[in-house]
Amino acid sequence: MSIAVTGATGQLGRLVVEELLRRGVASRDIVATGRNTDRLADLAERGVHVRRADFADSGSLVQAFQGVRKVLIVSTTTVGERYDNHVRAIDAAEDAGAELVVYTSTLNARTAGMMLADAHAKTEQYLRDSGVPFVVLRNGWYLENYTSQFPLYLETGVVPGSAGGGRVSAASRRDYAEAAAAVLTGEGHAGAVYELGGENAFTLAELASALSDASGRQVIYSDLPAEQYRAALLDAGLPAELAEVLADSDLGLKRGELFTSRGDLRRLIGRPPTGLADVLTGAIES
Ligand SMILES: NC(=O)c1ccc[n+]([C@@H]2O[C@H](COP(=O)([O-])OP(=O)(O)OC[C@H]3O[C@@H](n4cnc5c(N)ncnc54)[C@H](OP(=O)(O)O)[C@@H]3O)[C@@H](O)[C@H]2O)c1
Repeated sequence: MSIAVTGATGQLGRLVVEELLRRGVASRDIVATGRNTDRLADLAERGVHVRRADFADSGSLVQAFQGVRKVLIVSTTTVGERYDNHVRAIDAAEDAGAELVVYTSTLNARTAGMMLADAHAKTEQYLRDSGVPFVVLRNGWYLENYTSQFPLYLETGVVPGSAGGGRVSAASRRDYAEAAAAVLTGEGHAGAVYELGGENAFTLAELASALSDASGRQVIYSDLPAEQYRAALLDAGLPAELAEVLADSDLGLKRGELFTSRGDLRRLIGRPPTGLADVLTGAIES
């Protein structure tokens, strides 16, 4: 059995490779891919095949997927190029004769109106139409999207956003990686669309309140009109496209598009997903 993982130079892909190894997949049966393969040198030393794959270059993808049975396509980062990138990767997996393509999408991709969901919904459709057996992992928001901002929230005393009273089913990257590894190493998943998210969904006001309680410092949630939030993100130095996408995603959060009660993540990883309460203290201390 051989499994290729794209985006292994990134955070989620790396965790998937580590989880495959932890589950006993032989290193020679794993192909870790990315653009800058220097970042994968330690995996190569452990016997993992390392191959360069650039989603802009179909030839590199076909070569990277040669001889592979299952391919995990980790969605790429540049919003405007995503769909074309994913199409090239799906075509390459098919050309290489892959028997299963697993794709990391976004929660509620079919029905969500947020900008981010568009390329994911189109990719899912392309995958369905391709005829190759597939699994869709509709990953919810990462807990780390918030924990990485804790120092800033604590410094300013404010969690800014445009999410109103919307609840987010966030889970850790590690949980989503475990779910991907469970699908890649398991049987009977072909055709499945999993809605993956944490179980104790929270509002951003609840996040602020939990952070206050855990840190002993006052932190409040400030709900802003999306345009004002976008401007604040721009002021904080975020690139224009990212600021727009994040403000728009908060409006999706408000509409319930980042919420799930399906329990798919727990079923795939065989335990309750890590929640905000589990990471709060550690994230403040680190
Ligand atoms: N659910 C969420 O909350 C959330 C949040 C952020 C992102 N995401 C999505 O989930 C994905 C994985 O998250 P992450 O945290 O692992 O992101 P990350 O650490 O930024 O990793 C992104 C990976 O995508 C690769 N990539 C991007 N464009 C590529 C291209 N044209 N060709 C080849 N590889 C390319 C990167 O490779 P290089 O090292 O070569 O650039 C990197 O390995 C992201 O790419 C994004 O689509 C989800």
